Amino acid sequence: MKDKSKARDRIVILDYGSQYTHLIARRIREMHVYSEVLPFTTGAEELRAAAPRGIILSGGPSSVFADGAPSIDPKVFSLNIPVLGICYGMQLMCHVLGGRVEPGTEREYGKAELSLAGESRIFSGVPECSTVWMSHGDRVVDIPRGFVASASSGNCPFAAMGDEPRRLYALQFHPEVVHTQCGERILGNFIFNICACHASWSMDSWIADTVESLKETIGNEEVVLGLSGGVDSSVAAVLLDKAIGKRLHCIFVDNGLLRLHEAEDVERMFAQTLGLDLHVARAASRFYAALRGVDEPEAKRKAIGRTFIDVFAEEARKFSHCRFLAQGTIYPDVIESSCAPGGPSETIKSHHNVGGLPPDLKFALVEPLRDLFKDEVRAVGRILGMDDDLLDRQPFPGPGLGVRILGEVTEEKVRILQEADARVREEVRKLPSYKSIWQAFAVLLPCRTVGVMGDKRTYEYTCAVRAVNSIDAMTADWTRLPYDTLATISSRIINEVRGINRVVYDISSKPPATIEWE
Ligand code: XMP
Repeated sequence: MKDKSKARDRIVILDYGSQYTHLIARRIREMHVYSEVLPFTTGAEELRAAAPRGIILSGGPSSVFADGAPSIDPKVFSLNIPVLGICYGMQLMCHVLGGRVEPGTEREYGKAELSLAGESRIFSGVPECSTVWMSHGDRVVDIPRGFVASASSGNCPFAAMGDEPRRLYALQFHPEVVHTQCGERILGNFIFNICACHASWSMDSWIADTVESLKETIGNEEVVLGLSGGVDSSVAAVLLDKAIGKRLHCIFVDNGLLRLHEAEDVERMFAQTLGLDLHVARAASRFYAALRGVDEPEAKRKAIGRTFIDVFAEEARKFSHCRFLAQGTIYPDVIESSCAPGGPSETIKSHHNVGGLPPDLKFALVEPLRDLFKDEVRAVGRILGMDDDLLDRQPFPGPGLGVRILGEVTEEKVRILQEADARVREEVRKLPSYKSIWQAFAVLLPCRTVGVMGDKRTYEYTCAVRAVNSIDAMTADWTRLPYDTLATISSRIINEVRGINRVVYDISSKPPATIEWE
């Protein structure tokens, strides 16, 4: 996509493969300065033409001594643009400019005490001693000519260095992570005091720029978009609607594995309220047929994935005149598949992956949200006037209730689980702590147990309730739901949902358990 933000003050981050690269970009955006991540192979001439106010070299997993280690065009240091090297970026700067880096015998990982030495603009307002976050193996043992050591830590004689006249700075620690006490101050010193950026960027300007870029990229062509009803694809749809209106066609696959009334809600919201051109593929029976007799979790996922591609491709073929396929890919989807140096790979989560479409469908990809984190996507949605109910939706797996019905999936079990799940969500939503809960849902177990109801023996399914708190789904703790809420959920499910006579609460954390049961 063409970039409309060029006119604004901006910082370029060269990506050396750190898992924190986009966190740097995000921290800078939080300070209202536009920042973008480019591959480390970007040359000095290209950077000169782009004219950023500053350049940051990210961290990365490599060693400068490794064969084929990611490097830098040395002319970048002579562009008269301030450069800040972080972690691997510092070692690379040192190595290229004539200092000495030594392979570390052991990795330094975690918090460290930073002591400042002398004056440096990058540390303006930072106390003499503060806590920083380190994560490195190699370390600088001799700094290049013209540089001054500006800080040390217990394990690192050169925790920071700078060449003030040339405006070249480097930090061995990570200012972008929250564990670095004065990280924001240090990044702020770089972008405002050293690079002289103005804090003029905002989500509104991102929207305006992105809409302009979409218009330019798409021209008079048409776009087809796979709408799941989740936050990301919904925000992508509304953004594209703003850019190209009726030339956007949305496909929504009702796979029969959605939450109670979800298909109707999506239709009402997008077709009626928002007026989008929505095409619903009602394919529940095809999914149930593909799942008949399949009880192994991975086989179920494959059956659902294959059927999805078939149904989506059939629908998309009706739009083969469209040149573009839009997806709601966001940044965590991109890093999930790769943090390799050279920039994030093009392969993304399999359920998002257009690579699965048959070869006759040759769409070019449009992914307007691929640089944003989830909360930034929600912020975009809010500015676009989208409903909080939709934007605050909890994550829901692509294969839907298919992964929450253990064993074979049948239409009857889907009906039972939808009803139980709706009650869990309804009760949890009433809690003041609702927004702090990552996910709350029901799982249908494949075993039946004996119960008694109104003097009658019952022999029905067991339902597990799962609620977790998490920041990024990589780890999770089970939510301490109030006993009264658990009691209401249990009695409502047993009394109101035919087919379940026992409810249990899952009190396992991730790891070692996972969030979904499968
Ligand atoms: P687990 O069960 O691995 O789940 O702890 C982590 C998070 O990922 C969600 N999840 C999925 N999301 N497609 C998705 O978009 C999937 O196939 C999928 N499987 C799990 C899960 O709900 C949790 O938030």
